[in-house]
Amino acid sequence: MSVVVPAYREAESLPFLIDRVAEVRRAHGLDLEMIVVDDDSRDGSVELVAARSEPWLRILVRTADRGLSRAVLEGMRAGQGEVLVCMDADLSHPPEALPDLLAKLDAGADFVIGSRYADGGTTSHNWGFLRWLNSRVATLLARPLTHVRDPMAGFFAIRRSTFEAGREFNPVGYKIGLELIVKCGCERVVEVPIHFEDRRFGVSKLTLTQQLLYLLHLRRLYLFKYGARTPLTRFLIVGGLGTLVNLGLLTALVAIDAPLRLAVAAAILGSMGSNFALDRLLGFSAERGRPWLRPLAGFAAASSVGAVINYATTLLALGRFPGVRPELAALLGVAAGAAFNLVASRYLAWRAAHVRARRTPG
Ligand code: GDD
Ligand code: MN
Repeated sequence: MSVVVPAYREAESLPFLIDRVAEVRRAHGLDLEMIVVDDDSRDGSVELVAARSEPWLRILVRTADRGLSRAVLEGMRAGQGEVLVCMDADLSHPPEALPDLLAKLDAGADFVIGSRYADGGTTSHNWGFLRWLNSRVATLLARPLTHVRDPMAGFFAIRRSTFEAGREFNPVGYKIGLELIVKCGCERVVEVPIHFEDRRFGVSKLTLTQQLLYLLHLRRLYLFKYGARTPLTRFLIVGGLGTLVNLGLLTALVAIDAPLRLAVAAAILGSMGSNFALDRLLGFSAERGRPWLRPLAGFAAASSVGAVINYATTLLALGRFPGVRPELAALLGVAAGAAFNLVASRYLAWRAAHVRARRTPG
């Protein structure tokens, strides 16, 4: 196996990591090479690896295009092993788990994660509420991509053949594991519980910028996985989320005793706004990347009739069935509005495809 270790200014941790990997290698008789991928730290890492002069250990120094994900990809391409592993340099990930990772791959997994959150996994970070929430939200946002408990992990193993079948690698930021799961089409993703230890030396390189890059990365991954879907699926994804926005707003407004008609109207407007934003964000609209004011006006015009139908149906249901939950009436309205939009767009598409202006003779 090739163990790829991205490192930026980790000269203090590296000797301990190398010792522990050497011990695992020896104790389990593993055919293991270790590749430290250093982004030009100039902190003595190169010298200390050279001084060990172990035949199974080498260090690559990158001088351009700094970044965790790209460093990992470069290390994996350089690796000779049948199995490729990625682990942090700061001793957060226990090398002692390497045989477990290998065993799961042998048992048929496509991708194995050294996981903090699988049953039995633990961490020594004592996070405050906000940091915890941040991590939870980040994990939740990855749900449409994979169902594992710890998709953010930087400790994982993949077969070389699976890695080589991957296409269009284009990661930004930190989540190279997520990139590989999606781009290599890994289906059997298995988690091995680990204890995640806080770093003892040096500082974390996970900045706010890296965290914001995660959103950009997610967008690319969603597009890769869902971008090529049929218009109907797109309609359902965007419409489904819009319905949630509608119901959420309605519930909130009713809870603060807003007048019912106003609440219904505001909820519909809110969901129109979110539909527009989502449609552009997911790249479903050809207008993406252009100025947004005119498209917004066009979108509002195109969906106005459906919105009015939605509003009228909701109020009708509320009047016809007094005491009904407003959310239920709103669902009826959404269904009516959506049905109209769907039929109208079919009609327009049919006209565009089949109706030609009558030629004037001569
Ligand atoms: N070559 C290179 N270039 N390595 C880098 C770079 C870079 O630009 N940035 C960070 N690294 C290396 C670090 O030296 C370390 O070995 C590893 O990547 C992880 O960086 P840390 O700064 O220690 O990140 P962390 O501990 O906050 O994040 C870890 O845990 C997260 C889950 O909480 C990583 O494993 C993440 O991938 C993981 O999501
Ligand atoms: Mn770390």
